[in-house]
Amino acid sequence: MKITIIAGSNRKDATSTQLCRYIARLLEEKQCQVTLFDLYEKPLPFYNGDLDQTDANIVEMRQRLLEADGIVLATPEYHGSVSGVLKNALDFTGFDHFDGKVTLSVSSAGGAVGVSSLQHLQTMVRNLHGINCPEWISIGGAQRSFTPEGEPEDAKTRERVLKTVGYFAQMVSAFRK
Ligand SMILES: Cc1cc2nc3c(=O)[nH]c(=O)nc-3n(C[C@H](O)[C@H](O)[C@H](O)COP(=O)(O)O)c2cc1C
Repeated sequence: MKITIIAGSNRKDATSTQLCRYIARLLEEKQCQVTLFDLYEKPLPFYNGDLDQTDANIVEMRQRLLEADGIVLATPEYHGSVSGVLKNALDFTGFDHFDGKVTLSVSSAGGAVGVSSLQHLQTMVRNLHGINCPEWISIGGAQRSFTPEGEPEDAKTRERVLKTVGYFAQMVSAFRK
């Protein structure tokens, strides 16, 4: 199964991106073929609606989404919503990229949980005709610490992420075209 992860932070050491790397590792252990598209490393121009926006990063992100069986979208919680860079990236996508594909929403928040950004993300997924994974992942506050090996330091967070990623992988397998 092919999984594309979009890391939606524009910050170098973003905890949401560290979480994406950990999720990628767990999915690879389940024999998934994972692509992590990091919007910090591969920034996109602002969407302007012109058909000639053919920047290489736009083309690559769209291609990775087209070939995916399942998608993970990760965002930092900014003012109770998703990051600007992730919203901008999603504006370059449409039904072709998401229709019928199970999509897992993930967030990192300064507060205890980032439910508000997750709800907004799931609204966007529904409008893109993706299938929202009923489980989602939010890390917040002290849960945002990672070991040098890239694992969440908190054992309960590791357990929760592992369980959710397993649930997501099963759903992708069941809905895959
Ligand atoms: C512009 C801005 C807005 C933020 N708004 C919220 C917020 O509404 N709720 C919250 O819990 N944390 C908020 N935070 C804190 C971030 O969610 C927190 O630092 C998060 O871990 C950032 O994710 P990252 O490590 O992936 O960059 C905000 C941070 C910034 C820079």
